[in-house]
Amino acid sequence: MNSLIILGRQPALGLAELESLYGPDKLLPIGDTAVIVDVDPCLLAFDRLGGAVKFARVLTELKTVSWDEIGNFLVKSSPEHSKNMAPGKMHLGISVYGFYQTPKQVQQLGLKLKRAIHATGRSVRVAPNHEISLSSAQVIHGHLCGPNGWELLLINAGEQTVIAQTIKVQDIEAYTRRDRNRPARDAKVGMLPPKLAQIIINLSSGPLPAEAMLSVCDIPPDQPLPKLHFNQALLLDPFCGSGVILQEAAIMGYDCLGSDVDQRMVDYARTNIQWLHKLPKSPLLDEVSTEILLADATNYRWPRKPTLIASETDLGPPFGAFPSKTQLEAARNSCDRIARGFLTNISKQIDSGTRICLALPAWQVSQTKLAHLPLLDSIEVIGYNRVSFRHSRDEQLIYKRPGQIVARELLVLSKI
Ligand SMILES: C[S@@+](CC[C@H](N)C(=O)[O-])C[C@H]1O[C@@H](n2cnc3c(N)ncnc32)[C@H](O)[C@@H]1O
Repeated sequence: MNSLIILGRQPALGLAELESLYGPDKLLPIGDTAVIVDVDPCLLAFDRLGGAVKFARVLTELKTVSWDEIGNFLVKSSPEHSKNMAPGKMHLGISVYGFYQTPKQVQQLGLKLKRAIHATGRSVRVAPNHEISLSSAQVIHGHLCGPNGWELLLINAGEQTVIAQTIKVQDIEAYTRRDRNRPARDAKVGMLPPKLAQIIINLSSGPLPAEAMLSVCDIPPDQPLPKLHFNQALLLDPFCGSGVILQEAAIMGYDCLGSDVDQRMVDYARTNIQWLHKLPKSPLLDEVSTEILLADATNYRWPRKPTLIASETDLGPPFGAFPSKTQLEAARNSCDRIARGFLTNISKQIDSGTRICLALPAWQVSQTKLAHLPLLDSIEVIGYNRVSFRHSRDEQLIYKRPGQIVARELLVLSKI
């Protein structure tokens, strides 16, 4: 059975992340927002995917995109499906992707299904469609993934419609808790969202080892994945700041080594990691080691050899408006020197083939133009190959919120 992922706000990032972990041949993107992953839903590590919003299993594919035909099929098949569910009130919701239907039309379809199922003697509650697709919060609070829940995803795949059932949605509350509740935060070094930290780690990980693909269906839903075979892996974040990447990597089961040139940041990261240990749902953390050091990444010799490197480098000043030419050059040169200095320094300390994902700054200099670090043009000279992806172009791997001047450009490298 195939898995289906609904991708987040910047789908190219989520696609690259999946491609990094599972390889390009396993992915079949559908439209702009969804991708079928040829991995059994029980083996897909959804909890570690920062670029995925919903996780579903494919139920069927219809050879039509006619709204009426889809409706007729569902009205016919839903009562039968409902009989297989645990007794009690059923919670139904419909989310639509790639169709031009209005929320009202989607809601009407939901009510039709409700009537058809109700005729079998079961009561049904339908989640209201404020938009044509339901939010993660609606899915969670509407119990649509519980034993009596049924969120149907209808995805336009050109000449066909993929029909899928949601298994899980992103745990928005856990992300918010890990982001906002950390005791040591500093807006000046930027706030790396935990989801973006997960994407950076997954891009640096490359294909998951076969042993890591264990059946998550055997694990209780409120438990994190157990530490598997990551014990060979040591993740380095040489610009760790307040430690968001270290925190997310530790939750995923990686042993971590972090460093920063600023003692205050080292203290912040240590405080945050200690806090993480006290959170519920973090039994994994007892098994991983996290070491945080004071070090200049451009000349330090780390005490242990990392096997993957995931980091957000110095982003320079947080501009509120397009920078002047002089401001831009100063920021560009300084950030380039630091990132380049690190890559040159670490290249002598890691094995060939070691993967690195760096979030580097890129600046919006006009409505349409981004300025990049000069480093991007001389990757091979300093001993690395750029890792590109089949389903996302290099220039799409840029994380940016609307109106933001300093974007984060994700650069994935492999040591030659
Ligand atoms: C954008 S912040 C990283 C923020 C981090 N991702 C977090 O979770 O808070 C960049 C960090 O790089 C550090 N830094 C700047 N130059 C450095 C250098 N040469 N060596 C090590 N760290 C450096 C800064 O002190 C800052 O904490």
